[in-house]
Amino acid sequence: MKRQLSCIILAAGKGTRMKSATPKALHRICGRPMLDYVLDLAAQLKVTNSAVVLGHGCQQVKKILSPRVNNALQKRLLGTADAVKTGLAKLKIKSNDVLILYADIPLLKKESLDKLIEAHLHNDCAATILTAELKNPAGYGRIRRDRYSAICAIIEDKDGDEFVKQIKEINTGIICFKRDKLAAALKSVRMNSRKKEFYLTDVIGILYKRGELIESVKISDINEALGINSRADLAKANSIMQQRINRKLMLEGVSIIGPDSSFINFGVKIGIDTVIYPFTVIENDVRIGKRCQVGPFAHLREGTRIEDDVVVGNFLELVRSRLSAKTLIKHFGYLGDSRIGENVNIGAGTVVANFDGRKKNVTVVKNNAFIGSDTVLISPVVIGKNSRTGAGAVVTKNVKDGATVIGVPARLLKKRG
Ligand code: UD1
Ligand code: MG
Repeated sequence: MKRQLSCIILAAGKGTRMKSATPKALHRICGRPMLDYVLDLAAQLKVTNSAVVLGHGCQQVKKILSPRVNNALQKRLLGTADAVKTGLAKLKIKSNDVLILYADIPLLKKESLDKLIEAHLHNDCAATILTAELKNPAGYGRIRRDRYSAICAIIEDKDGDEFVKQIKEINTGIICFKRDKLAAALKSVRMNSRKKEFYLTDVIGILYKRGELIESVKISDINEALGINSRADLAKANSIMQQRINRKLMLEGVSIIGPDSSFINFGVKIGIDTVIYPFTVIENDVRIGKRCQVGPFAHLREGTRIEDDVVVGNFLELVRSRLSAKTLIKHFGYLGDSRIGENVNIGAGTVVANFDGRKKNVTVVKNNAFIGSDTVLISPVVIGKNSRTGAGAVVTKNVKDGATVIGVPARLLKKRG
């Protein structure tokens, strides 16, 4: 019979070291709350069932959870052992094994977890710990081994003596347990006198003393083990995730001229042969077609849709705007809530004034229109097909197909004779 595996995700912690009003699990990495990365991982593992332990800011955190996610409330933040107890109580199916994930370890990859689970099930251990060998292990719990090299305890950094602090092998926090052995050991965990918390990591020493087998799997890419406890950790995680996103896009056929200066959020879609020039920021929910050019210094915000063969040049900001194929906006400007047709030319300095002080309005520019430099389109306006605006025009009314408008406010330019 196949053994059943449950998963508990710990996301109740306050994140004191972040010094933030936002719960730690909601801090974003490349535009996405860090908890989402961990939820995704758990979903990919196809576990029997899972529970997310919430606590600090639980109402806020719940908002990003799908209603299908089983969550448990840790009433008092009494440490990771208490959080796991809370999670275990919420699991309806009492599976043989339990995998513990932390919401603040968001860079883990599925392959590493597969290896951990496989080793755990194969070796039939009471616990299998995902460990990492770090040059600078400060802050992490250390793996303590006995003279036969068997794991005998995890010692937290702050509780360690000089000998422990020398140990480079750390606890990533990700551990697979036999459920019954874990539940029994949790009953024996005593409160840490210094932090006034119950440490999950104390379970390892307890199991060892009970003669249980404890194994480990060492992670090969240490970046995956990064625990996010401070803003500095968050910045590091952003940079690692950014490299992963950019590398994936490049493998899919996108040219990124300066990968270190291109900030592209998780989930952005870009078609092949599009070139992203340096210092470009692309936020959530943006899609770009094939053979486009973007940047340098472009800022594409949420809801932007760009079709094939479009040029979005220097110093441009776009938000909730749709640009159809072959449209060119080569120089600085701002387009908000705009629907731009095909083959439109938008001159330097064009601004779509989409906000009237109370609400956002939509402007439509139809196919083949020519928008002169420094035009201001006061939304809502519709600029007709094949129409033109003169340089510096301030357009407050709709422009008919084929018409030309000029001036402030823009008026129709009548054809002579
Ligand atoms: C923890 C481990 C440490 C490991 C490190 C890896 C313990 C005692 N220590 O330390 O060995 O090297 O992670 O990054 O486990 N949480 C709750 N409820 C609580 C307290 C915490 O759900 O009452 C959650 C947090 O939201 C977080 C996770 O547990 O997702 C870990 O807590 P954190 O305080 O970050 O532990 P670390 O000090 O990083
Ligand atoms: Mg942590």
